[in-house]
Amino acid sequence: AEGLAGLARATGCTFGTAVDSLRLAADAGYAGQVTAEAQLLVPEWEAKWAALQPQPGVFDFGPLSAVAGFAQAHGRQLRGHTLVWHTGMPPWLLDGIAEGPARARALLTAHLDAVLPATRPAIRDWDVVNEAIANPEGNPFTARTPAVGDLRDTPWLRALGPGYVELAFRLARERDRSLRLTYNDYGLEGGTPWAEEKRQRVLRLLRRLLEAQVPVDALGLQAHLLMDEPFRPELLAGFLRTVREMGLAVLVTELDVREGRQLPAGLAGRDALVAERVKAVVGTALEQGCRTVLTWGLSDKDSWLTRDPDVMRKDGESHRGLPLDAEGNRKPMWQALAQCFAAR
Ligand code: G3I
Repeated sequence: AEGLAGLARATGCTFGTAVDSLRLAADAGYAGQVTAEAQLLVPEWEAKWAALQPQPGVFDFGPLSAVAGFAQAHGRQLRGHTLVWHTGMPPWLLDGIAEGPARARALLTAHLDAVLPATRPAIRDWDVVNEAIANPEGNPFTARTPAVGDLRDTPWLRALGPGYVELAFRLARERDRSLRLTYNDYGLEGGTPWAEEKRQRVLRLLRRLLEAQVPVDALGLQAHLLMDEPFRPELLAGFLRTVREMGLAVLVTELDVREGRQLPAGLAGRDALVAERVKAVVGTALEQGCRTVLTWGLSDKDSWLTRDPDVMRKDGESHRGLPLDAEGNRKPMWQALAQCFAAR
């Protein structure tokens, strides 16, 4: 039957997912799921600094080209993730930017000088800066991060000061005026005071950037949802309304669901709760003008949730936070997404 790509397109939306070049090449079932369900692809790791510039001045576009080749062969679109982030910074880069702001600026400029021309016209939309906002205190699931004001204390912040966010967006826009430039972050969907504070920090950052005429076009909500966290639609709706009133587009960029510590008995119960949460969050985003929804993978068997020690379940169960189960069958979460697009 029609995949999510077609259902989304029929209502003026775009559905997609993160893909891994190694799985695309090695697993026909995986590639088949991608072509059946996804219109927009985002490389899970191939467009990050560690993959693109593993050594100073040494660029490796191989893995990203594999994803781009797959997308082109199947008439799919590609988005870029991510140019500036504090994770996956090669040691040489950490050393380099620590030499001081002039060196840090030169290294960032050289990266964008190489990556942006090399990836056009395949990539028209980039997560320019990822996760620059510090996590507030008080979330049992996400550690508070050291902060300088609202900003996460990262090597980029230490090297260039708070202006690194503005610099990254300006350098990207100078190199390609047609790119859509996105600020991407997580923990922005929940109904807790923690999430409310993080949303306020994001709004302060976006306002500062826009008041300084920094070329930001969109906000990416990663939407790595936590079932243990309450959801209050009116809080997310109000936040997204404010972001839209600032003239920004909104995307859901990395949707998946981490289930609670107390799982209900049985898969049906778990899948139903996940589907209900996805429908509420994605439905709210679409109501507030979001037109692009990406999940962070399609099948539970490929999810970072089942391999990253920070998030995988400790009870031997695996999360069921993606639209397809480990055998590739569509789950209630798949139906929830289909209903969200149909309801538009
Ligand atoms: O970089 C190597 C590459 O050189 C090598 O050829 C390849 C072979 O498998 O592995 C690559 O390494 C790992 C890569 O995943 C591919 O599996 C990296 O060591 C590993 O750190 C990387 O993990 C990714 C992680 O981001 C860090 O980049 C996860 O797959 C990916 O799911 C995760 O995604 C992040 C988003 O970017 C931001 N939001 C949170 C999300 C989950 O953490």
